[in-house]
Amino acid sequence: MFKLDLFKLITTSVALVLSSTLLYGGSDTNALPGKYISKMGAVDGGVIYPRKDGTYTAYRYNEQSTKGVNFGRVPTANELKAWDVDIMPDGTGLPDGEGSVSEGDELYEKQCSSCHGEFGAGGKGYPTLTGGNQEKLPNGVIKTLTNQRIEPGMEAPKRTIGTYWPKATTLIWYIRDAMPYAHPKSLTNNDIYAITAYLLKQDNILIDGQEMDDDSVLNREKLMKIKMPNENGFYPNIDGPNGVENVRKFFSDRAKNIGAGTRCMKDCKDLSSKGNEPTVMKIDNEITDVVPPYSMARDLPPEVENKLESKAEKMYNDSCKLCHGSDKMGAPVVGDVEAWNKVTQKGFDNVVHNAIDGVGGMPPKGGYENFTNSEVQMIVEFMIDSSKKKH
Ligand code: HEC
Ligand code: HEC
Repeated sequence: MFKLDLFKLITTSVALVLSSTLLYGGSDTNALPGKYISKMGAVDGGVIYPRKDGTYTAYRYNEQSTKGVNFGRVPTANELKAWDVDIMPDGTGLPDGEGSVSEGDELYEKQCSSCHGEFGAGGKGYPTLTGGNQEKLPNGVIKTLTNQRIEPGMEAPKRTIGTYWPKATTLIWYIRDAMPYAHPKSLTNNDIYAITAYLLKQDNILIDGQEMDDDSVLNREKLMKIKMPNENGFYPNIDGPNGVENVRKFFSDRAKNIGAGTRCMKDCKDLSSKGNEPTVMKIDNEITDVVPPYSMARDLPPEVENKLESKAEKMYNDSCKLCHGSDKMGAPVVGDVEAWNKVTQKGFDNVVHNAIDGVGGMPPKGGYENFTNSEVQMIVEFMIDSSKKKH
């Protein structure tokens, strides 16, 4: 609703500006002030609101029965078809079509490189699609994906299509439904195969053991022959008939796969290994030499006296300056040598006494009863000092 109201507000005010401009020009009689006449229905989250008397209504008329709970209805075959668009690793849902690496190259340049960088190499703030080292550990996991930043200079895991994506079919699905970012679903099936071919070639992916070149053409059959480098890097394996069983097994072995399962904050004991020695982990290469250095202080630093502003000056500024900063209040202005010469002729002790007990328009202690006498004296000294002739 909020979205709709906002939309209405904007369109109404735009219409107001428009119509008044038009009326001023005397050229248009269709536009009524305050009413937005358009051909479009109002759309909010995919719902088209009905229009009444040429304008849309703010609220959707609920035509459903309010008696009992309304469970809706079974979707029609066509509705299901529109929703059921996923492309599975076994090829289910793959569209027909084909495209070559060189065609994909051209399309990629025009439609994708502005965000994903030349050749898919990233660097523009959007995901990097290609590159990365595909060297594997013995267990089949891409080595660089296990990078941890525990050593200075260690690169973060690099997730690209080549190092990370387990299935090539997902690429077709993702690009078809989500890219280019600003206008997804605008590519033809041939375009999608071509761009996918281009990206796979950039990542040195083999088709049936064969390297791709610029003339390589990708289609449904060839795509199904691709084995992605990181295909076995995900665990547990959720694919196929054993998927559910694999997941169960994985979660049942908590000690190995999830952790020992005993939470602790201090004196933590690693129950799974030798003895019951506490094995509190510490970061190996803690980075401590930073500029400025990390503070170990637990509380705020004590207030230090500003060298440029003494305690007396601060108190004067906070409590006395209002009246003594200018002659508006009839007070001797601090800095006015003559005025303070007159004051000090009474003798220092008398002046301090007057400041404490008040005199004429000078309230006792300036109105700050909680100042001690010696504090007032300190301020008076500051005032007199600041009002001496400068040599
Ligand atoms: C306007 C910028 C933009 C353009 C143009 C664009 N993309 Fe993307 N792309 C993105 C963003 C943003 C994401 C991340 C989306 C997310 O994670 O939700 C992304 C993600 C992707 C991914 C998934 C990357 C990953 O590993 O998660 C692929 C593949 C991809 N885009 C391909 C393409 C292709 C092919 C084109 C050209 C047809 C294209 N993109 C055009 C912005 C763009
Ligand atoms: C509400 C305004 C006001 C404030 C606030 C104020 N003064 Fe005054 N002060 C005056 C006026 C007015 C006089 C002149 C009094 C007179 O001679 O009739 C004066 C005079 C003085 C004198 C001269 C007294 C004398 O013997 O001639 C001193 C010293 C003084 N103030 C100190 C202070 C100090 C210290 C503070 C802050 C703690 C302070 N004043 C805050 C209005 C103020």
